[in-house]
Amino acid sequence: MLNPELPGLLLPLLLLLLLLPARCPARGARFDPTWESLDARQLPAWFDQAKFGIFIHWGVFSVPSFGSEWFWWYWQKEKIQKFVDFMKNNYPPDFKYEDFGPLFTAKFFNADQWADIFQASGAKYVVLTSKHHEGFTLWGSAHSWNWNAADEGPKRDVVQELEGAVRNRTDLRFGLYYSLFEWFHPLFLDDQSSSFQKRQFPVSKMLPELYELVNKYRPEVLWSDGDGGAPDGYWNSTGFLAWLYNKSPVRDTVVTNDRWGAGTICKHGGYYTCSDRYNPGHLLPHKWENCMTIDKYSWGYRRNAAICDYLTIEELVKQLVETVSCGGNLLMNIGPTQDGTISPIFEERLRQMGTWLKVNGEAIYETSTWRSQNDTVTPDVWYTCKPKEKSVYAMFLKWPTSGQLFLGQPKAILGSTEVKLLGHGQPLKWTSLEKNGIVVALPHLPSHQMPCRWGWALALTNVI
Ligand SMILES: *[C@@H]1O[C@H](CO)[C@@H](O)[C@H](O)[C@H]1NC(C)=O
Ligand SMILES: *[C@@H]1O[C@H](CO)[C@@H](O)[C@H](O)[C@H]1NC(C)=O
Ligand SMILES: *[C@@H]1O[C@H](CO)[C@@H](O)[C@H](O)[C@H]1NC(C)=O
Repeated sequence: MLNPELPGLLLPLLLLLLLLPARCPARGARFDPTWESLDARQLPAWFDQAKFGIFIHWGVFSVPSFGSEWFWWYWQKEKIQKFVDFMKNNYPPDFKYEDFGPLFTAKFFNADQWADIFQASGAKYVVLTSKHHEGFTLWGSAHSWNWNAADEGPKRDVVQELEGAVRNRTDLRFGLYYSLFEWFHPLFLDDQSSSFQKRQFPVSKMLPELYELVNKYRPEVLWSDGDGGAPDGYWNSTGFLAWLYNKSPVRDTVVTNDRWGAGTICKHGGYYTCSDRYNPGHLLPHKWENCMTIDKYSWGYRRNAAICDYLTIEELVKQLVETVSCGGNLLMNIGPTQDGTISPIFEERLRQMGTWLKVNGEAIYETSTWRSQNDTVTPDVWYTCKPKEKSVYAMFLKWPTSGQLFLGQPKAILGSTEVKLLGHGQPLKWTSLEKNGIVVALPHLPSHQMPCRWGWALALTNVI
């Protein structure tokens, strides 16, 4: 006999079964070491919401702090006159690049101070060069004998100190940059002369270091760079990434970029960086990041920088607004000095960004791209939106002298649309343009009542 109760129980049970995902892949083996599988991984949501991060280029190149962080290469490989002369004029004739190591003292490095400046900048993640192409590791790498910050120079584990301070004092995610290749590493050079048939360098240096770095410091951004012309098979990038996504301590939250071997950039990996200072000015179908430097000519600190070499806060706000409107994140770089200080010019720019984001962060953080990225009538107007809140944000970089802002894209709804200036708060008067668009009457504000000075944002609710 059938239990008369059964059909009543069976139906919800069957429905439940139907609603369950078709298969639940075993935890710990979700991704195969193939680009097809790895590229299909969804980027952890925090990254797109964060929008703004800080990049830090720091290393032995910060000692000469002349020209660029490519100092060693330009001096000894390309023998560029400016760099050769700099060495001839300032150092003894037998001085080697390695001799800069002990001079990298980081005497005033205070990770807490750095962390507090980063927090004030409004950034949501930070990415430190754990090792640049020179090969010097900012942590006590077990695989970088005598060429690491714990044994040479600072005699401190810089990565660990910064990680601790960032995680203890801020709400930023901690990330690490890592250069796969090293310009002058003998094993890399030997592999290179075998057309990368030999794999001594990745097997004995790069892969062990990457595993060590991830296990020890649990970076939530792993910013790979410097393929040295070698394909991803040489680096075993897919093998490493499968481990990173399946088994590593950061498997659920880590994001990576696209620089994992010759030809992978803008094509494989996590988010796309495509090129340095990438800012396409239009929407991309894939998450991307604009990594750029406040110093227009260098990522590392340069003592020979002129004031006009640094981007102004207006230029930086423009970068942020354009980037976010087109679906990107901005990764803005500073270069600390060999002493471990963040020079006042970089600190000022970081704090200015924070000031701007305090007022306008609502139009940046956790926003989505809108159907239009920039306005069709007024130049330098960029859009983001928050669909759930029914809000569209129009960020404008020039305050119109007429006090009227013409927007060609939003369609207003009479009796429903509301327009406010962020940091001001009062509803503003608006009128519809004939076909599409809206004219907003900006408030007449004396300069001390301006919510900010380097760009503004209107919140438009209930527009289509
Ligand atoms: C982080 O905070 C904990 C608890 O207050 C403290 O014991 C630890 O030393 C701190 N670490 C760093 C690197 O500041
Ligand atoms: C690549 O990495 C994976 C995962 O660690 C490993 O199983 C595999 O043996 C590696 N392959 C080569 C060729 O090194
Ligand atoms: C902005 O929009 C206009 C269309 O009105 C377009 O021509 C222009 O290329 C867009 N992009 C930038 C970067 O201004």
